[in-house]
Amino acid sequence: MQQVHMGLIGAGTVGGGVWNALQRNGALMASRLGIQLEVAAVAVRHPDRARAARIPARRITTDWKSVVADPRVQVVVELMGGTTTAREAVIAALRLGKPVVTANKALVSAHGDELFAEAAAHGTNLYYEASVAGGIPIIKVLRESLVGNRVTRIAGIVNGTCNYILTRMQQEGAAFGDVLADAQRLGYAEAEPSLDVDGHDAAHKTGILASLAHGFWVTPAQVHTEGIRNLSPLDIQSAARLGYTIKLLGIVKCLGPADTTVRKASRRVRDTAPACAIQASVYPALVPRTHVLASVNHAYNAVAVRGDVVGDTLFYGRGAGAEATASAVLSDLADAVLDLRHGSHRRVPPFVAHEVNGRVVPMDEVISRYYVRLAVLDRPGVFARIATLLARAGIGISSIIQPEGHAGDTVPVILMIHDAPNAAMRRVLRQIAALPVVRAEPMMIRVEDLD
Ligand SMILES: NC(=O)c1ccc[n+]([C@@H]2O[C@H](COP(=O)([O-])OP(=O)(O)OC[C@H]3O[C@@H](n4cnc5c(N)ncnc54)[C@H](OP(=O)(O)O)[C@@H]3O)[C@@H](O)[C@H]2O)c1
Repeated sequence: MQQVHMGLIGAGTVGGGVWNALQRNGALMASRLGIQLEVAAVAVRHPDRARAARIPARRITTDWKSVVADPRVQVVVELMGGTTTAREAVIAALRLGKPVVTANKALVSAHGDELFAEAAAHGTNLYYEASVAGGIPIIKVLRESLVGNRVTRIAGIVNGTCNYILTRMQQEGAAFGDVLADAQRLGYAEAEPSLDVDGHDAAHKTGILASLAHGFWVTPAQVHTEGIRNLSPLDIQSAARLGYTIKLLGIVKCLGPADTTVRKASRRVRDTAPACAIQASVYPALVPRTHVLASVNHAYNAVAVRGDVVGDTLFYGRGAGAEATASAVLSDLADAVLDLRHGSHRRVPPFVAHEVNGRVVPMDEVISRYYVRLAVLDRPGVFARIATLLARAGIGISSIIQPEGHAGDTVPVILMIHDAPNAAMRRVLRQIAALPVVRAEPMMIRVEDLD
């Protein structure tokens, strides 16, 4: 049987998971693919570290460059993380014409354009199924399975740490800080949690999904990003009373046709398709309790994709962890070795630019519905002053709730607000915050009906 040798750069959570999965299912894969996958060399930083994967010492090196350059290594698997050395390693491998498999969403989202150009220039390919939603094969879905669809909306729960925290806040009525501390103790959250809880990790993944769906590369900087730090148990409870569950969503929506007067030149563009002006954003949102995304709990991920031909589809599974992510890496490895055998690396390039005139709409222009929580002095006439400011801004209120059981001078008020542009909403909230009767920064959460 034909053998293909690969080099692993990184044997931590994901690299160790890949090693172990290959020990378990390498023979199964060989029988399915007709190709035996062999790990020729493994680069790590601390060779003496205790590892979940029992990798023979003779295969381990601290020199990733030697793994990339090793003449036996035909496929390089980058699982070291980060965007500096990892970028160097991926580019070095691609320049040698070696296909690269990576799980590195930070790298792909920030440097995708450059890496794809390197792959094309050196007659090879870059595979990144594991970079979004772990074990869920969403990249293949967007690139291959739904190729006959215009994707009109993607709504995804793509960060397991945030979903775990929100699920526990919901189920236990606990505060964000307490659940985060517990999640860190249990290994669901990093000691430095910002990448997850401030939405950046979800923004990397949402940018990749937006790019694949719309055919122009959307960098993380273009994805409007808000995290879950400021959510309070009261928000979670009030949302529940209104029939909603709060989820951190990555959202990609086609809001309308893009301006087609500007035609960007790109040598990698095959053709031009009618382009969308898209929303690409990450924020906590009120999701109707009846929508399937509201029942995606704990560390699970789910991505709902709407296509104009297929209609609504949903992809659900474990979005992180050694095994789920290893499953996606193995899928990419299978594609990489089959492409090597058949010389078919150009069949599905890592990214095909097509909506060349597409653009990301600034969040200020996006129209949403809103939940607003205010802390106000418990006095007559307070509400009239708030309603006047909203009316002057042309923003309508659909309902008002004053949750009971709050003693003292300051009480919460929950407003549900009709459709309004984000800029207008932010402006009026600044005016409301400046009222002497308003005692804390207003909390604004968007409502996503997902209908
Ligand atoms: N963890 C997940 O659930 C998950 C899910 C999806 C995607 N990802 C992505 O997968 C990638 C890896 O994540 P991970 O969780 O497996 O990280 P990790 O546990 O920290 O593992 C990183 C590995 O890279 C090695 N390494 C780091 N710098 C190196 C260098 N300069 N030279 C050689 N080896 C080096 C480390 O060596 P030592 O072991 O000796 O320190 C370690 O084995 C990241 O891009 C991450 O975003 C992770």
